[in-house]
Amino acid sequence: MQSSPVLSVLFVCLGNICRSPLAEAALRETAGAAGLSLLVDSAGTGSWHIGHPPDPRARAEAARHGIDIGSYRARQVTPDDFLRFDRIYALDRSNLSDLQKLAPAGATAQVALLLDAVPALAGQSVADPYHGDAAHFAQTWQEVTLAARHIVDVLRQP
Ligand code: 4NP
Repeated sequence: MQSSPVLSVLFVCLGNICRSPLAEAALRETAGAAGLSLLVDSAGTGSWHIGHPPDPRARAEAARHGIDIGSYRARQVTPDDFLRFDRIYALDRSNLSDLQKLAPAGATAQVALLLDAVPALAGQSVADPYHGDAAHFAQTWQEVTLAARHIVDVLRQP
């Protein structure tokens, strides 16, 4: 029997095809390895890529870590997400500002910048790798994995 999730987490970037799918994969993997049941999803503030799979470079980076994200599909964040999720993490400061504008009255989700979960990187954005190359996607993976580890470590603290 599946245990009910201890927390629901939504990652939000601009397109939902590069950074937030990698963050979703990293947290799923890290939480799974720690035996922690989380509900994890991702979305974009923009609408251009709705229904699209992750960027091939993001898929390749996840595959390098043994994770298949080919079945993920991009969606746009909705006001309802602010009621459905416990936490919404923005991948960069611009996404955070867009989320704050979108939050409906009575929103219950905690909205935060993802790298605030990593004390040494607090206040920083996960750089957009869309116009970059494989090395930029590798950097994205490093950052979202580090954040996922911090999130899981805090949840595991007694
Ligand atoms: P993401 O990257 O926000 O990390 O998914 C981008 C994907 C698409 C675009 C920009 C950033 N775009 O302009 O289409």
